[in-house]
Amino acid sequence: MSDVPARPFPSDRPADLESQPARIDTTKPHPARIYDFLLGGKDNFQVDRDAAEKVVAAVPSARAEVAANREFLRRVVTYAAGQGIFQFLDIGTGIPTVGPTHEVAQRVNPLARVAYVDNDPIVLAHSRALLTTNDRTFTVQADVREPDTILRHPAVRELLDFEQPIALMFVGLLYFVDDGEDPWSLVARYRDALSPGSHLLLSHVIDTVETRNAAKAYETATSGLSPRSPGQITAMFDGWQIVEPGIVPIHDWRPDGGETFAGQLLGGIGRLV
Ligand SMILES: C[S@@+](CC[C@H](N)C(=O)[O-])C[C@H]1O[C@@H](n2cnc3c(N)ncnc32)[C@H](O)[C@@H]1O
Repeated sequence: MSDVPARPFPSDRPADLESQPARIDTTKPHPARIYDFLLGGKDNFQVDRDAAEKVVAAVPSARAEVAANREFLRRVVTYAAGQGIFQFLDIGTGIPTVGPTHEVAQRVNPLARVAYVDNDPIVLAHSRALLTTNDRTFTVQADVREPDTILRHPAVRELLDFEQPIALMFVGLLYFVDDGEDPWSLVARYRDALSPGSHLLLSHVIDTVETRNAAKAYETATSGLSPRSPGQITAMFDGWQIVEPGIVPIHDWRPDGGETFAGQLLGGIGRLV
């Protein structure tokens, strides 16, 4: 795993990372902070905790679901790194918590690089600390719905070589993009920028009575929640060869022991051929 091509690391941190204090809005629930609270973190505010309690009232297994999603992230990143992928574009990163992508990937390949992208300023604020200890990671504040901004971002381009395979990560993200914004076309836009051998790592909330009720907790949040059917989730893998065991409940994706049961999310990996 040491045959990673030499590449300069971004020396010029973008201005938004270094010089501007993050503007944290505590008047509206934010998905990253609701998720942090459900994971047992401390980077959240009363407005987020109130929304998270509504999520738990609608989906009693919500805490287990988010824990299972983190476990899924660990397994799919480990799998991709084991396939020789040393570049990761992790969109919808979340607040750095136990087992961030670069730690998991670098356990397999210490030279692995991760470009983190999230639209929530709190993620950027926390990533500053992360960056001081790991120069193979980089965090950009941007919105997944603006693929050109992300794909052409100078720091992303400097860190990741698009001529080499990249693991494109939409783990627990695309249900924050509504149907009108066409997440299927969005995935295709990213896919078309990648080289053969790239992987799509994706998990998504399923449409159930419980998750539809949970979506109400996001009505006042910065993003709504759009649960989707298994067919709609699988359609996001259009143009990708689906890796065994397929698009399955996330605890069933290559379990390696002690998985948390999660009935409300599907996930899987696609490979670009
Ligand atoms: C449920 S968390 C998932 C975190 C992490 N990927 C994981 O699976 O543990 C969703 C993340 O997506 C981010 N997010 C939501 N909408 C986004 C958008 N339009 N563009 C970029 N990030 C977004 C949120 O800020 C949050 O950090």
